[in-house]
Amino acid sequence: MKERIDALMAEINDLKCASLQEVEQVRVRLLGKKGEITALFDEFRTVAPEFKKEFGKKLNVLKSTAASKIEELRNSAEVSAQSGEPSFDYTIPGDQYPLGSRHPVSIAREEIVSIFRKFGYDVAEGPEIEDDYHVFEALNFPPEHPAREMQDTFFISNAENPVLLRTHTSSVQVRSMEKLPLPIRIICPGRVFRNEAISARAHCIFHQVEGLYIDENVTFADMKQAILLFAREMFGPETKIRMRPSYFPFTEPSAEVDVSCNICHGKGCNVCKNTGWLEILGCGMVDPNVLEASGIDSKKYSGFAFGMGVERIAMLKWQVKDLRHYFENDLRFLKEFETSI
Ligand code: PHE
Repeated sequence: MKERIDALMAEINDLKCASLQEVEQVRVRLLGKKGEITALFDEFRTVAPEFKKEFGKKLNVLKSTAASKIEELRNSAEVSAQSGEPSFDYTIPGDQYPLGSRHPVSIAREEIVSIFRKFGYDVAEGPEIEDDYHVFEALNFPPEHPAREMQDTFFISNAENPVLLRTHTSSVQVRSMEKLPLPIRIICPGRVFRNEAISARAHCIFHQVEGLYIDENVTFADMKQAILLFAREMFGPETKIRMRPSYFPFTEPSAEVDVSCNICHGKGCNVCKNTGWLEILGCGMVDPNVLEASGIDSKKYSGFAFGMGVERIAMLKWQVKDLRHYFENDLRFLKEFETSI
């Protein structure tokens, strides 16, 4: 009985009639003495007492829906009978076409880029397919240097200067140092590639924004201030940062930067693993060898560089627990960012 009620309900909702005559036929078929709904009411008498309440309610709704639909169809058939034209309700809203939305990685990248643009940084871009020189050698990774192992590289050819997929956008910084006049203040957003097993925390393709500032008298304090301002713009004005000593071949000294956890505000939660801190980027003072390799006088100029993963920043900002969501294009996930066009 339930199936029949549901099927009739669906049918009634979709009913269309071209003439008053058709409306009358529908009325007789549904609500007439031998109509389908009338028959259901007859059958209702045989329903077990414990189901009476549920079915009684359903039947009454069905009957009143049918009656009002028939009334509505009759009205519109009357209108078209008078005007001689099929009726058309001009007040029905038009079809809604979803606009789509920006991908969360694009939203995060644009936010990072726009913060640094405000600080006066220009955007620099470069090739994804690179040579060994720009990804490693010019960045103070000599051949056979163990630090090359830090980044699992996809090699395309193994010639003397191997062709490879860039493992970081620091290569764009090298290309910029080679050709831009000083001082240089750039950020390099782009896709990077690493031969890593895909997991909730790592992917073989991801996005970075790296930054570089070179001028006379640039100090570690300048770097710290730039990163603090960025962190506050990105994660809120209360955000604190801390620096931990680290190692990169192209910077000396080097540091990793944590921000205070924006979820528990330092109290400790499962996102920050009860430390109260979240790692967001690596940075350091550009090694003099790197400046010299690109023809910049390291006695006169100094600079700082930093690099961050866009997916990681987006994960922290929106509390996404699994990096793979960003690459699977599951509409249910992407739709959560719909308002952020
Ligand atoms: N290039 C580094 C990486 O991809 C990030 C970084 C950039 C660290 C600049 C320090 C300075 O891991």
